[in-house]
Amino acid sequence: ARGAAAAADLAGRHVVISAGGTREPLDPVRFLGNRSSGKQGYALARTAVARGARVTLVVANTGLADPAGADVVRVETAQQLHEAVFKAAADADAVVMAAAVADFRPARYAAGKIKKKDGEEPAPLELVRNPDILAELSAARPKPGQVVVGFAAETDDVLANGLAKLTRKGCDLLVVNEVGEHKTFGSEQNEAVVLAPDGTRTPVPYGPKEALADVVWDLVLQRW
Ligand code: CTP
Ligand code: CA
Repeated sequence: ARGAAAAADLAGRHVVISAGGTREPLDPVRFLGNRSSGKQGYALARTAVARGARVTLVVANTGLADPAGADVVRVETAQQLHEAVFKAAADADAVVMAAAVADFRPARYAAGKIKKKDGEEPAPLELVRNPDILAELSAARPKPGQVVVGFAAETDDVLANGLAKLTRKGCDLLVVNEVGEHKTFGSEQNEAVVLAPDGTRTPVPYGPKEALADVVWDLVLQRW
């Protein structure tokens, strides 16, 4: 953790962070969702505020209180997150995609609650792809010199999958952590390795999500 005397080394910078997990509605009462707690994104927001940045936090479905000093935008779906992140990214010096974005959404939304009928099998659920916000941002870079950071949760072949993903997305940094039933999701602690396209690997030992957040900002600073 950084001391109270730490410099406001992000002063004059605008950073955008997405946090939480998107929900893709099936009907007015049901959705497809994921287990992201949003805690890592909030830790990124708190540390960036503490280091003097102007912070826009785009939040998808967390029960967490707004962090002091950040501009908070709330969304539900991946498409809404896409719109909100691109809007905020127009003048952002860095964008960190900590949110878990649904890769697919139901092809159709039922305006009324879906009902079952006696003796009838359920219809298969048809899904369509959502936009890849991180890949699109990495390609677009709405503000010149903008640093784009992704997160990847992997259950197997963590490093190999992380490196392939970094290349595929085209981002500047990819924070990779290993997840499983009892790891990371919802917990207060995190262990990760931060990968860069030049082959640099920055391991971050198991510890509070603020510590990982501070390492991310240190690496972003290096790239500005
Ligand atoms: N991401 C995104 N838009 C999506 C999906 C993912 O911006 N539609 C971002 C996430 O916020 C994260 C990064 O991409 O920062 C990696 O997400 P991940 O789900 O690990 O990557 P995918 O390419 O969706 O790969 P996978 O098939 O393993 O889910
Ligand atoms: Ca995914």
